[in-house]
Amino acid sequence: MNQTIIVTGGAGFIGTNFVLAWAKQGLGTVVNLDKLTYAGNLENLVELQHNPQHIFVHGDIGDQVLLARLLAEHQPCAVVNFAAESHVDRSIHGPEDFIQTNVVGTFHLLESVRAYWGKLNEVDKKAFRFLHVSTDEVYGSLGKDDAAFTETHAYAPNSPYSASKAASDHLVRAYHHTYGLPTLTTNCSNNYGPHHFPEKLIPLVIHNALAGKPLPIYGTGQQIRDWLYVEDHCAAIRRVLEVGKVGEVYNVGGWNEKPNIEVVKILCRMLDAKKPRADGKPYADQITFVEDRLGHDQRYAIDATKIARELGWKPQETFETGIEKTVNWYLENQDWVNNITSGDYRHWVEKHYVERGEELA
Ligand code: NAD
Ligand code: DAU
Repeated sequence: MNQTIIVTGGAGFIGTNFVLAWAKQGLGTVVNLDKLTYAGNLENLVELQHNPQHIFVHGDIGDQVLLARLLAEHQPCAVVNFAAESHVDRSIHGPEDFIQTNVVGTFHLLESVRAYWGKLNEVDKKAFRFLHVSTDEVYGSLGKDDAAFTETHAYAPNSPYSASKAASDHLVRAYHHTYGLPTLTTNCSNNYGPHHFPEKLIPLVIHNALAGKPLPIYGTGQQIRDWLYVEDHCAAIRRVLEVGKVGEVYNVGGWNEKPNIEVVKILCRMLDAKKPRADGKPYADQITFVEDRLGHDQRYAIDATKIARELGWKPQETFETGIEKTVNWYLENQDWVNNITSGDYRHWVEKHYVERGEELA
C-alpha cells in the first residue's frame, strides 16, 4: 500500500477544493472518482490536467466492479467520500437520486472498500482509513436558544437530503462497529467559497445580483446557518484523516451563525463597493421575499469543541476574510459561472423558482 488516496465526488464544490489543496501541498496521488452529475465540473480541475498525481476517473460510487478494479490497481491508504447529491431543494423536488447515491451508493462503496480492506496485510489494514464527509443537517433544526450540535446530539433529519445523509452515516457507523472497518465521519456546517455551484444561497445571490435578477429569500430570511470557508473544511478533513481516532465522529463548523437575510445584505454591500450597479442603486433593491422551502430548518449551529480539543483544528478564516475571498473569486471567474449557468442550470431555475410564480429566469 502506498500514499495514494481515492477521493469520490472530487469534481464538485468541496471535493474540488480538497483535491486542489492536496495537490498544492504535494501530499500524494489522488484518484478522483466522480460521476459528473450536473454538480460535477471538470473545468474545476483544469490546473491538474498535466499533474501525474491526479488521476480522474468518470464513474459511480455504486459501481462495485469499477471500485474493485480501482482499489486493486491503486492500493489506496484511504478513501475520502464526498460524492453525494447535495442540494436540499432538489431533494424536495425529487428524492430518488438522493437515495440512490447517498444511501445505496455509499452502501456499495462501503462493501467494495470492506472487501479490499479485508485482504490487506495487518500493517496496512491498521493504517487504512475510510473518511465519510457528512453534514450538520442530520441533527435536524435548533431553536434560537438551543445549544449547538455536539457529536452526541440525536439524529433528526428533516429533508429527504438530510435523511439520506443520516442513513449513510449510520451505514458507516455500522461498518466500523460490525466489521471493524477503520472509519471516520465528519459532520460539517454550511460551506462557502470558490467553485460553489450557483444553486446554493451565496453563489446564487452573487450571480443574480450581477445579472440584475431578483435575490430570492425564502420566507422571512431569519433562518440561521453556521458558515465555514471551504478551505477550512478541507483542512479539518486532512487533520481528521491524519490523527482522527478510528470509529469517531467529528463536528466541523465555523462558529459563525448568521441569518440568511444578513448574509445577503453583506453580499449586496460588498458588490456595491466592488462592482456598483450601472444605475448607482444598491443591490439590496433586488432582494425579493419568496415562498418558503418546505420543511425549512430554522437554525443550524455546530459545536466544534471536540475537533479543536482533540485534534487541534480551528478555522483560519473569519466570515469577513472568507467572504471577501469568495466574492473576489466570483468576480474574477465570471466565465466559470457563465459556463455553468448556460446549460441545465436554466431548467432548474425554471422548475424551482419560475413554476412557483417567482420571476427569476
Ligand atoms: P456537490 O453537489 O457540489 O458535489 C457533489 C459531487 O459528487 C459532484 O462532483 C457529483 O458529480 C459527484 N457525484 C454525485 N453522485 C455521484 C455518484 N453516484 N458517484 C460519484 N460521484 C457522484 O456537493 P458538495 O457541496 O461539494 O458536498 C460534498 C459532500 O460534502 C457531500 O457529501 C455533502 O453532503 C457534504 N457536505 C456539504 C456541505 C456544503 O455546505 N456544501 C456541508 C457539509 C457537508
Ligand atoms: O448545513 C450543511 C448543508 O448546507 C449541506 O449539507 C448541504 O449540502 C448544503 O447545500 C447546505 O444546505 P442549505 O440548505 O443550508 O444551503 P442553501 O445554500 O441551499 O441554503 C442556505 C439557506 O438559504 C437556507 O436557509 C435556505 C436559504 N435560501 C436558499 C436558496 C437557494 C434562500 O433563502 N433562497 C435561495 O434561493
